[in-house]
Amino acid sequence: MTSDRHQDRAAQRRAEIAAERAHEDDVVRSGAGRGESFSDVFARRISRRGVLKAGAAAAALVLAPGAAGAAAQTGAKARGQRPGQGIRFTPLGIEPASNQWVKVAEGYGHGVLLAWGDPIHDGLEPFDPATMTAEDQKMRFGYNCDYIGWHEMSANGDGLLWVNHEYTNEEIMFAEYDPDNPTKEQVDIEMAAHGGSIVAMRRDGNGRLRAELGSEYNRRVHAFTEMSISGPAAGHDWLKTSSDHNGWTVHGMLNNCAGGITPWNTVLTCEENFHQYFGNADALADDDPRKAVHDRYGMPGGHSDRLWERYYPRFNVGVEPNEAFRFGWVVEIDPMDPDATPIKRTALGRFRHEGATWGYSPSGRVAFYSGDDSRFEYVYKYVSDEAYDPLKRGMGQGLLDNGTLYVAVLNDDGSGEWLPLRYGEGPLTEENGFSSQGDVLIQTRIAADLLGATKMDRPEDIQQNPVNHKIYGAFTNNTQRTEEEIDASNPRPDNAYGHVIEFTEDGDDAASETFSWDIFVLCGDPSDESTYFAGYPKENVSSIANPDNVNFDSAGNLWISTDGQPGTLEQADGLYVVPTEGAERGNLQRFLSVVAGSECASFEFSRDNRSLIVSVQHPGEGGTYEEPVSTWPHDGTGVARPAVIQVWADDGGRIGQS
Ligand code: FEO
Ligand code: CA
Ligand code: CA
Repeated sequence: MTSDRHQDRAAQRRAEIAAERAHEDDVVRSGAGRGESFSDVFARRISRRGVLKAGAAAAALVLAPGAAGAAAQTGAKARGQRPGQGIRFTPLGIEPASNQWVKVAEGYGHGVLLAWGDPIHDGLEPFDPATMTAEDQKMRFGYNCDYIGWHEMSANGDGLLWVNHEYTNEEIMFAEYDPDNPTKEQVDIEMAAHGGSIVAMRRDGNGRLRAELGSEYNRRVHAFTEMSISGPAAGHDWLKTSSDHNGWTVHGMLNNCAGGITPWNTVLTCEENFHQYFGNADALADDDPRKAVHDRYGMPGGHSDRLWERYYPRFNVGVEPNEAFRFGWVVEIDPMDPDATPIKRTALGRFRHEGATWGYSPSGRVAFYSGDDSRFEYVYKYVSDEAYDPLKRGMGQGLLDNGTLYVAVLNDDGSGEWLPLRYGEGPLTEENGFSSQGDVLIQTRIAADLLGATKMDRPEDIQQNPVNHKIYGAFTNNTQRTEEEIDASNPRPDNAYGHVIEFTEDGDDAASETFSWDIFVLCGDPSDESTYFAGYPKENVSSIANPDNVNFDSAGNLWISTDGQPGTLEQADGLYVVPTEGAERGNLQRFLSVVAGSECASFEFSRDNRSLIVSVQHPGEGGTYEEPVSTWPHDGTGVARPAVIQVWADDGGRIGQS
């Protein structure tokens, strides 16, 4: 099929979606054929979360273990809980780190939606780890699923699923894997198993999603996929290589961890620990200015972990010193156009991007929040110069190329500032080695250092709550912070358990240059006196550590997934929910636990909140192919398989409220 035909079809499909949405009674529309106003888009976003109508969710709350439902509901009313803020389920107990099955709160079911190696196209054999080839892998679901972007396309809940494939665990993917001598075929499979997948989903009469293998939208993006580079750093001398003399094209994206969806329904997928893939940085001369930049980004001086450089010299910094500058970006992908070239958007900066999540500005400009997930790194925000134009669709929006990247300062008094990373302003001048905005963006971390940004405890996912408009950021841990280095926003030394911060943009405007902030949760075992749950009494709160990804249900409750609990609380990682408003604010409870070796990575709700999709990432990590610590999902293949699962309420109701 030609690209033009695809574009026509994509445009037609967008028109169909717009028409379907016009019939949704809870979305304000600006009129057929004129597109949506910006406030419409935000209304749709809230609608996507399916905000409960007043009265539809009267009297709901988390049931303390063993509490009688009726009595608990009465308690909620007595405490004056706001309708729509409550959650209601019997919390899950602690599961051990050796957990062999995914566990969900009573009254909920789950099933695997897509696992590593599952075909995403018709006509392929069932997965067999022993016969996988690289070409085969390019037609199948990749490894280590993380960010989930859900693009709902019809009133009955059909949609497109985007999933990041962050990295590979070779030791459990391949029999007799020799980490010192990987074969080229193994390396090629690894590269094909990175990236992302787009798979169309249909919802059946029982409300269950299933993959549509015949869909023309289904697509794999991987480490061989051609991508273009746009924005101020495109064409920069440091982005030019022996295979790309212009600095405008690159093959692949690496270590895509979290992400976001734009108001124009494209996916932003973010390169996180890209440094892992490049070896031999020590080969650069000490006086080569690129060496200091590679060092600031943690590029290995010796060989890389996976040794891809042995077969692909572009990953050898000594051979191709600039290739690594072409990674560490936010990548935009149009799920509606299977032929669209992914674009690395340099205006959003280069660092170990966790995600890039949209924040609403009444001005119509778009803001995207992003953490740099390393110890003592920073929180960033990008704000477009221009307002969103609802008549421009897809990748042509242009708002991600012209804008300002900011880095956060969190003052001890609870105020905060977004400092612009603009070439020529403040210290970002020739004197400090910057000759263009491209320079600033390629060296984002160094520019932010010079501005004096606040060094945080590993910034992970940061997202705006579409109901109360506050922004919630997860700071997963930092065991290297000393007593002398604590501050109000990173208040614990040797921070093993992590915390969650609640930000309020001034004027509830995501384009604001000032904000206030507060600690929302200090994680850990609630019996530990250093923990804090927004002031909620801790007796019945669940233990939680290492918050990673955040998201919100229809009522604005904050859901938090964890990555690291086996090593800190000696329990399985999981998914938790905590009300952000009302009498139950801070009453955090465990909803789901994942299996041995795995983290509970990303998750997303369907628009009606009746489906929850969750990434179970790196099950079996810590074992080997020959000596597995898990073979979840126990499907007879004999290997652990990273997978996305779907969760439903047995009574068909909303997740967490049923
Ligand atoms: Fe890939 Fe920051 O979690
Ligand atoms: Ca993450
Ligand atoms: Ca993580």
